[in-house]
Amino acid sequence: MADRLGSGADNMAARKNDGAGQPGQGAGQPGQGAGQPGQGAGQPGQGAEPAGQTTELNTQAAGPAEVSVSTLRWTGGELYLLDQTRLPGEIIEEKQESVEQVWDSIKQLKVRGAPAIGVAGAYGILVGLDRLIKEKGLSVHQIQEELQKRADYLETSRPTAVNLSWAVRRMVSFARNLLQKRPDISGKGFSDALVTEAVRINEEDIELCRGIGESGRELIKGGSGVLTHCNAGALATSGIGTATAPMYMAHQAGVKFRVYADETRPLLQGARLTSWELRRSGLDVTLLTDNMAALVMSRKMIDLVIVGTDRVAANGDVANKIGTYGVAVLAKHFGIPFYVACPMSTVDLDTPTGDDIVIEERDPEEVLHFGKRRTGPEGMKVFNPAFDVTPHELVSGIITEAGIITAPYEENLKKRYGSL
Ligand code: MRU
Repeated sequence: MADRLGSGADNMAARKNDGAGQPGQGAGQPGQGAGQPGQGAGQPGQGAEPAGQTTELNTQAAGPAEVSVSTLRWTGGELYLLDQTRLPGEIIEEKQESVEQVWDSIKQLKVRGAPAIGVAGAYGILVGLDRLIKEKGLSVHQIQEELQKRADYLETSRPTAVNLSWAVRRMVSFARNLLQKRPDISGKGFSDALVTEAVRINEEDIELCRGIGESGRELIKGGSGVLTHCNAGALATSGIGTATAPMYMAHQAGVKFRVYADETRPLLQGARLTSWELRRSGLDVTLLTDNMAALVMSRKMIDLVIVGTDRVAANGDVANKIGTYGVAVLAKHFGIPFYVACPMSTVDLDTPTGDDIVIEERDPEEVLHFGKRRTGPEGMKVFNPAFDVTPHELVSGIITEAGIITAPYEENLKKRYGSL
């Protein structure tokens, strides 16, 4: 992932083992995999059959730090997603054949992390659109209606991260404005312009990550310990991540520090994704179970916490992966700075406080299993919120592409983002 510190365009070209693909697995049955009781949607390592054409990426040839893996890419009018439910065991990307398949991939966490699902949504509403335009001979106004329908549909896949609705709505309003300006535009011209806008969202994401890294890198001192929760890394974005951006940049600048990654039950994004991507980029990372944070903090092993977020409310409350709130409370107790990193697309001034953020609840089977193994009784009552909200009082600062925003959040977030 460290190579994403280079040119943004690098990320668009996955180093693919063209010979190792498994083409022709056929179009899937979108919408059937998500949330199926007993199937453990999104359960790591359960090896659900991929719905679309898959390509195994070549990771054999180079050492861990050198191999590039793209979270997603748009190539030749097609969207490919790295299937993150298969990491770290298998590195497989899946071609998306339909908007329903994209919905399912987001729901199942094949692509996940707030910025990444935003970019996947922007490309996702375009999947198969050209074919539809040709087959049905859609007028530009019908294309616009189709886009609106697809945007409304994709938004329902995951409710908490604002980036998804931000990105698909941006695509729809781009289309509306374009039609107003150029009512005579051809179907082909219209769809090409939409692709250009999605690529812009993708490239902005890469740039925003870099900006977050620049803003936060000075927080990481030589010899320090940095704790993070879930995966707000390269795999959660199309760039160098949000929480991890300062880490990658400090590492590249030669700062020696330790990262502690919470494993992050129930779906283990910290274990499967954060520790995997940081390690392969040569960072010093230690994996912890979620219940170890108090111990490592009490032993003065942690000097700083940086996490990502799925939505920042207008008052500075932040939603992030379940367990983040507990880490913030502990950080406060031990006097450790607790920072949240995010791009502007995660700030939602239309949501007044954390109480107004919709928290996604997921399939009980995720809690009843550890990987493939059942760890809870059949039919057990389960509570499985995917996120919690950390009150702004516990947040030392929000690391953004525009610098570090501190309290009073309501005022300072509005000052920075109010006119966007
Ligand atoms: O359920 P996930 O894996 O999508 O949850 C991801 C997180 O909670 C991340 O911390 C958040 O989306 C920020 S990603 C830069």
